[in-house]
Amino acid sequence: MLSESAAGSYRPDPAAIFLTGFMGAGKTTVGQTLARELEWPFHDLDDSIEILADQEIPLIFEMRGEDVFRDFEHAAVVQHVEEVMAGQPMVLALGGGTFAYARNRDKLRSAGVTVWLATSPDTLWKRVREDPYRPLAGDREEFFRLYSARERSYALANERIDATGTAEEVGNRIMALRCVQELRKRD
Ligand code: S3P
Repeated sequence: MLSESAAGSYRPDPAAIFLTGFMGAGKTTVGQTLARELEWPFHDLDDSIEILADQEIPLIFEMRGEDVFRDFEHAAVVQHVEEVMAGQPMVLALGGGTFAYARNRDKLRSAGVTVWLATSPDTLWKRVREDPYRPLAGDREEFFRLYSARERSYALANERIDATGTAEEVGNRIMALRCVQELRKRD
């Protein structure tokens, strides 16, 4: 739907849901379920980063380092936000670290609803421990330390959703949010 801006020109209303939360929170599976329900395209930021970097995530960390990974991550955020602002609705699953950076949060919060999939760090660790595809999930102590450091950032999302249960259950909790109902009306 189009709306009139203060300047009198027309812009598309952004319609996007950005899923944040720590590794193992279910951002991808819940996002896919939600996107099916909404009939919106689904994107996974980790996939977009790999396309931009032309490399798999473990290799980006290993060969180029985390700072370079974070720059690709930010570039992928900017790209998706531009798509949303150009009128493409989407459900986007972020990476576990994306929302820890103010430059990403600012962009995302200006373009859609941000939702934190919240679960206890014990549950998260059981889901992802020693996953070779997650360079930051190799060591239990480091995993818990990182979770504590990031919890405050996730709390800056517009909504906090209990991420326990099946992807359908979590997806339904998100669908029931008033702000998501509002987005649907505009779609
Ligand atoms: C990261 C989480 C990963 C991926 C990268 C860094 C993090 O995404 O972006 O390994 O900093 O927590 P998932 O949360 O999808 O595993």
